[in-house]
Amino acid sequence: MKCRFESTMSAPKAFYITTPIYYVNDVPHIGHAYTTLACDVLARFKRLDGFDVKFLTGTDEHGQKVEKAAALAGVTPQQFTDRVSKNFFDLRETMNFSTDDFIRTTEPRHAAACQALWKRMEEKGHIYLGSYAGWYAVRDEAFYDEDELTAGPNGKKIAPTGAECEWVEEPSYFFRLSAWAEPLLEFYAAHPDFIAPASRRNEVVSFVKGGLRDLSISRTTFDWGVPVPGDEDHIMYVWLDALTNYITAVGYPDTENEQYKRYWPADLHVIGKDILRFHTVYWPAFLLAAGLPTPKRVFAHGWWTIEGQKMSKSLGNAVAPDHLVTTYGLDASRYFLLREVPFGNDGDFSHASIVHRTNGDLANDLGNLVQRVLSMIAKNCGGVVPTPGAFSDADKALLATAHGMLDRVRAEFDVLAFHKGLEAIWGLCGDANRYVDEQAPWTLRKTDPARMATVLYVLAEAIRHIGILVQPVMPEASIKILDQLALGPEARGFGALGPEGALAAGTALPAPSGVFPRYVEPEAAS
Ligand code: ME8
Ligand code: MG
Repeated sequence: MKCRFESTMSAPKAFYITTPIYYVNDVPHIGHAYTTLACDVLARFKRLDGFDVKFLTGTDEHGQKVEKAAALAGVTPQQFTDRVSKNFFDLRETMNFSTDDFIRTTEPRHAAACQALWKRMEEKGHIYLGSYAGWYAVRDEAFYDEDELTAGPNGKKIAPTGAECEWVEEPSYFFRLSAWAEPLLEFYAAHPDFIAPASRRNEVVSFVKGGLRDLSISRTTFDWGVPVPGDEDHIMYVWLDALTNYITAVGYPDTENEQYKRYWPADLHVIGKDILRFHTVYWPAFLLAAGLPTPKRVFAHGWWTIEGQKMSKSLGNAVAPDHLVTTYGLDASRYFLLREVPFGNDGDFSHASIVHRTNGDLANDLGNLVQRVLSMIAKNCGGVVPTPGAFSDADKALLATAHGMLDRVRAEFDVLAFHKGLEAIWGLCGDANRYVDEQAPWTLRKTDPARMATVLYVLAEAIRHIGILVQPVMPEASIKILDQLALGPEARGFGALGPEGALAAGTALPAPSGVFPRYVEPEAAS
């Protein structure tokens, strides 16, 4: 048996988790909410599991893409970013995200970090002045080689991502990325868990094996960015600026401060597969060049489509987080996004699938279980936790599954297999539902009330375990469940799981109320 209170015996272990910082050229949609949701679930899970968590998100506000969007909106870049960044900031409330810090790359703390990192790489000889002549896609804020491009309409050159490219020719500082191919390959080999899932790792390794070119890291033809220290005609390439956010937020360049010492290197950068190369090639190369520790893991998840189609401005089909939450409910939305699609795979969002999934798993499997058991206790046990007698084999089996659930869920969540962790919890739900049917406490009420009390006690224990374990995914519904079991805040952490935290017989319970409403289609207008 594992010690459940490890964390009280020594200082809690730190866990630093980050989302990408989102471009402020657009309003947030379900794709952005998805990445931050996955991080939120892990952050909550780790806190309940005794870790000292720092959970960071924010906005990426510099670069040509944002400058252009501001010009289109007829306002200054600063006015524009203030306005749009707020939409991402407000996601915290819409989606119930438990972020600890929200970074904006236009903050002074961030310019200081970028310039310090630049100087450090420069001092170590990794930066030189040259000139860039080549293709650039503003949409991706990325450089492309001629041979990667295809011909688009009107003689335009198109990147593999579908983004339009433009020819750029200007003086530029370069990072000697070409020198880092070998060291990076050694680094990946020494840290096999650095890139996840494994398919992404293979993709990156074969890309780097193909050789790397030096990277242009400054621009002179516009000025919405962090100035290059010592040469203010140049502003830094927005990806160098953006990646630095992860160390800005822990106080870099002050590497002696508590946050930096405690949280860097980050435990996990969660990103979408679109920005894998930036996080697994450029970012570790910059850090290695600067002599700074590299993050422990980068996980790239898959891509959501909507009713089978790519989300796009022209189709106007992006699903807004607000819409999601008001239509389906917050916890149902959170549950669906992580349960429906294995994290790492692409997935399709459809009205039919979220309704089917949440009415089945939440309203039927979990909601009915809680409702049935708690109303039987209210009606037949005087509204208090019943006193159990000796446990039968069936009782012991259900309790053992509940007691072993944390280890199973932890193992899945640690590798971001959220769907499998949830599947395991729902396996317990299924066991409990079968147990109710087999034990038929409504019959025992007349034939053997003492046995009925034992059965309802065992079920309440199963529900207690489920309620505690679903907290990271469903922060609101879990409160309703745990409130109905009269559990205080100290009884909700993972330390309370298992027999040690068992419900005390005789505890008065509040009147039961429903946990998950079913989604019902609005009446067709007649
Ligand atoms: O790339 N499905 O910002 P960005 C799943 N600023 N995830 C999606 C998605 C979809 N359809 N659409 C977007 C940038 N995402 C840079 C990052 S980090 C130092 C700088 C999510 O606003 C996914 O996480 O384009 C993706 O990686 C991210 O939004 C891209 O956000
Ligand atoms: Mg993007």
